[in-house]
Amino acid sequence: MATEQTPNLAADLERFVKEQASRFGDVISYVPVPLTVGSIVLPPAHTPLPVGDRKTAVVLDEGLAGLEAKLAPYKDEKWMSATSLDIMQQEIHDCQKCALGATRNKLVFGVGNQQSKVLVIGEAPGADEDEQGEPFVGRAGQLLNKMLAAVNFERSDVYIANILKSRPPNNRDPKPEEVAACEPYLWKQILLLQPKLILCLGRVAGTNMLKINESLGKMRGQIYDFHGIQLMVTYHPAALLRNPDWKHGAWEDLKKFRAMFEALG
Ligand code: URA
Repeated sequence: MATEQTPNLAADLERFVKEQASRFGDVISYVPVPLTVGSIVLPPAHTPLPVGDRKTAVVLDEGLAGLEAKLAPYKDEKWMSATSLDIMQQEIHDCQKCALGATRNKLVFGVGNQQSKVLVIGEAPGADEDEQGEPFVGRAGQLLNKMLAAVNFERSDVYIANILKSRPPNNRDPKPEEVAACEPYLWKQILLLQPKLILCLGRVAGTNMLKINESLGKMRGQIYDFHGIQLMVTYHPAALLRNPDWKHGAWEDLKKFRAMFEALG
């Protein structure tokens, strides 16, 4: 492969590597993995993940059938018969299943490419999202866009949703009863979307999706199996805004996530 690269392609690759390193923010510096094309270090994001590196720590049922089973109690609710995300959004836009229905401005359903193999899951809408009805549109959202771009995803390439669809007052953590009321919606969205990869942003997203009581540190770096869908957990962009030193770890996670995406073929 190395000897087949034309000088122009090699220069393009080199530029690409540098761009990816700089797009993600000032704290990140590019750390090459030992994969080179001639003198060019390939973007690690394009490195297929060695099979031996794939750690399946938690297996939740066999594939999406397990998710369908979890939705069985809701089978008579109208939104359950939605055959598309757009229809489902119309069905639940005035949901009042939990107390947050009374205090929110707009329900934040989710946004993005409905054919995407990638689902990104955050915690809950903040003030900007509540105002606009779209996930990750505030400062954290701007950083999320940069994080995605750093590994060559446009925001519009992926689908983005949250554990909760309504804003908790003062951005407090979601309460268990709020998660219990709202998470079936996310499960149904997953069935409609059928992503191949899920990226959870932060501990709240990771622990609620996986139903485990782990620290973010323990979850990071693992590849979980969520009903047959590979799931990774990384830092929430809001945490990175507060702790810029963590960006380096996030960059490592995102490279691994991109490699998983490349490995899908
Ligand atoms: N934080 C989240 O977890 N989700 C959003 O949509 C915005 C901020």
